[in-house]
Amino acid sequence: MSTSPISNKKVTSSVFRAKKERGEPITMLTAYDFLTARAVDLSGIDSILVGDSLGMVVLGYENTLPVTMEDMLHHCKAVARGASNALLIGDMPFMSYQVSSSEALRNAGRFLQEAGMDAVKLEGGRARLDAVRAIVDSGIPVLGHLGLTPQSVNQLGGFKAQGRIADEAGEILADALALENAGCFGIVLESIPSRLAEYISNKLTIPTIGIGAGPGCDGQVLVTHDLLGLFDKFTPKFVKQYKVLHQEIHHAFQEYKIDVEGGNFPGKEHTFSMSDQEWQKFLDLTVDSRI
Ligand code: KIV
Repeated sequence: MSTSPISNKKVTSSVFRAKKERGEPITMLTAYDFLTARAVDLSGIDSILVGDSLGMVVLGYENTLPVTMEDMLHHCKAVARGASNALLIGDMPFMSYQVSSSEALRNAGRFLQEAGMDAVKLEGGRARLDAVRAIVDSGIPVLGHLGLTPQSVNQLGGFKAQGRIADEAGEILADALALENAGCFGIVLESIPSRLAEYISNKLTIPTIGIGAGPGCDGQVLVTHDLLGLFDKFTPKFVKQYKVLHQEIHHAFQEYKIDVEGGNFPGKEHTFSMSDQEWQKFLDLTVDSRI
């Protein structure tokens, strides 16, 4: 297995463009907490997305719609404390950028000013151009997101692949070109046919980051909980599970229960000692003070 050397340099949004130009794949994973962010960062992954997917894999919601700005900022802050090199991208939650471009800009600013993010991501194409332009014009890098956009799950009729019919594919291409034009530094393409993702990637000068969009994208992103097999509710078709940790965690918890109930934990090696002399002093104290 060949691995690229891990660099100690901070990844910026312009590194994404440079990597695309050099034909080097961009790597991105999600993280929602300090420890995971640290592990992703130390692995030399280019970018960490604090995705609103945290609503499903951390907070237990059915979809991402209930996630609030406060939820996102709370998790972004933890991630920022754990990562020093990766480009940190905060995902703008439902209703934080749709109402007006001034509200979008104010909320985008909070990700950088309060939560230590380097960039923001938002879903949608031509309908979101005013918000994208307002945010980009104020100096905040924006990552677009097209295809299966989970915040529109009710309009899309479920979590299903998009762009499989020609007209829909044409809309996605037009959205991608419009987002590039509005100043996005990259675009996530989620759950669209591989040949469409490759076609769009070749048309754009900015990089595409695929999730369920095949190998023709300029980079890949996965939800870390899916990659690690932490989430046992369902696994999307496009996920490669590198571990099945939910099973290992379940086994560990069962063993702990058996140990405690059987008197096998804690053992001597897990306890602190006190000298006989100090113990005697303690007993004398209790006698003297009648504790
Ligand atoms: O919220 C998220 O994690 C995402 C990725 C799936 C791209 O948007």
